[in-house]
Amino acid sequence: MTRDPINRRLGVLVSGRGTNLQSLIDAIGDGRLDASIAVVISNRADAGALGRAGAASIESLCLSHKGWPSREDYDRALVRELQVRDVGLVCLAGFMRIFSAPMLEAFPNAILNIHPALLPSFPGLHPQRQALEHGVKVSGVTVHLVTAELDGGPIVVQRTVPVLDSDTEDTLAARILVEEHVAYPDAVRMVLDGGWKVEGRRFVRL
Ligand code: GRF
Repeated sequence: MTRDPINRRLGVLVSGRGTNLQSLIDAIGDGRLDASIAVVISNRADAGALGRAGAASIESLCLSHKGWPSREDYDRALVRELQVRDVGLVCLAGFMRIFSAPMLEAFPNAILNIHPALLPSFPGLHPQRQALEHGVKVSGVTVHLVTAELDGGPIVVQRTVPVLDSDTEDTLAARILVEEHVAYPDAVRMVLDGGWKVEGRRFVRL
């Protein structure tokens, strides 16, 4: 499937402090990324990311995942909030939820996720801890298209960092985070610019 340039209105989904949201806000603000953020949606009312959206005058809302009859129902509600704002690309920025069919079908190859490890190594929770425990000498960040496979979709951008013998989970996470803030705006730009296709599990630029 070949993608033409897509609608540059982003929907950013968050659950936490929102430094990756901030990297997108900053990249748009200083002209490195030609896009706009149509909405920030958090599944947690206490997410620091909501304050960042407010400070940047971006519309935000909290859509709690609790109390829905099923994961599909929650995802359908998310789809409605995104589609009503004409979002073209969904960016998961620390959004701690797994999607079901309604989200994946509404945004085929139009959802990005950022993961603080070099996938396919260390998917899932605590990837920095997994990397340290495994003893790898290099780790990093992956931005990938979201598919039904957890942390398994086509890889758009990866950046690496060294893993030091002296590292703790926190020091490694901090080193990776610096690269996350470069990788995410880069990946969003590549996806929005089009001229790529998905071939098997590969994201290929034409
Ligand atoms: C980041 O490490 C991101 O890679 C992972 O969750 C963390 C979110 O951090 N998916 P922040 O909320 O963007 O600061």
